[in-house]
Amino acid sequence: MAVNTSGVESVGGKGDLQAEVANLAPWFHNLHLPDGTQTAPTHPLGDFPLYKWERLAGHLPQNLEGWSALDVGCNAGFYSFELARRGARVTGIDLNLHYLAQAKWAARQYGLQERVTFREMQVYDLAHTEEMYDLVIFMGVFYHLRYPMLGLDIVAQKVKRLMVFQTLTMPGTEVYEDTHNLDIEHREPMTDPGWPKIAFIEHKLAGDPTNWWAPNHAAVEATLRAAGMRVTERLGHEIYICEPDPDNPACINTWNSAEIISATGRRVMSRRRDDRSDQVLE
Ligand SMILES: C[S@@+](CC[C@H](N)C(=O)[O-])C[C@H]1O[C@@H](n2cnc3c(N)ncnc32)[C@H](O)[C@@H]1O
Repeated sequence: MAVNTSGVESVGGKGDLQAEVANLAPWFHNLHLPDGTQTAPTHPLGDFPLYKWERLAGHLPQNLEGWSALDVGCNAGFYSFELARRGARVTGIDLNLHYLAQAKWAARQYGLQERVTFREMQVYDLAHTEEMYDLVIFMGVFYHLRYPMLGLDIVAQKVKRLMVFQTLTMPGTEVYEDTHNLDIEHREPMTDPGWPKIAFIEHKLAGDPTNWWAPNHAAVEATLRAAGMRVTERLGHEIYICEPDPDNPACINTWNSAEIISATGRRVMSRRRDDRSDQVLE
């Protein structure tokens, strides 16, 4: 017996399953359901996000038993389910109720509902939660945020061990090496292709008004560093693996805490054991 999200029960069978998939359309994630049914087999990006996961899968621990994971902007839960299959306890958050309904339904199809919890939340709401997570997936969301550095600062504080970051980017892989303390009269280096830049998209990109920003590669690395993270691996498909860098804590944990407190209404504090910021703030 299958239960669709409208609460109507249907007798299990491939036809019923396909009807439920159709009821829950449109899908952004092409989930491969246990009976082989796919939720978005004609996705314009291909078998999405399976092809991204195939790039990433070998770079994360195979065994995630005992790990907690947070999937930010989880959509229909593709990454949440992959992490749960490896043993993690996963929380997926998204602001979109349509996608959350898909994710909750799919969790039941996979029998993973005990391992995965989906919640309606904005990225910024994480500032008002206490939990930290061993692994944070922050993919496909940064450039959708009206306030991207605020979102990244908040998410980075939630990471105990690893974060996977992915964003839409600007073309180019150059990095201008020394961006320290330019003279006010000599700002030309900022026009160099490798200077960290984030293009602002005022009028939609690919028809989507929530595509607000496109950082270049240098800006991805710079903003992650500024959020207290160290990039350990850069995979294809605009994917970066990073970890907290106790030698380079975010300024929100040191001299600039007042700004994030003003923006969020509270301290968004890392409680990592070796975070030196504790000495500054407590
Ligand atoms: C491009 S999709 C990426 C989905 C998935 N993370 C992936 O990489 O395949 C962006 C997702 O982020 C969600 N999202 C956008 N802005 C958000 C916000 N401020 N807080 C939480 N989720 C957000 C959208 O609803 C959508 O499900």
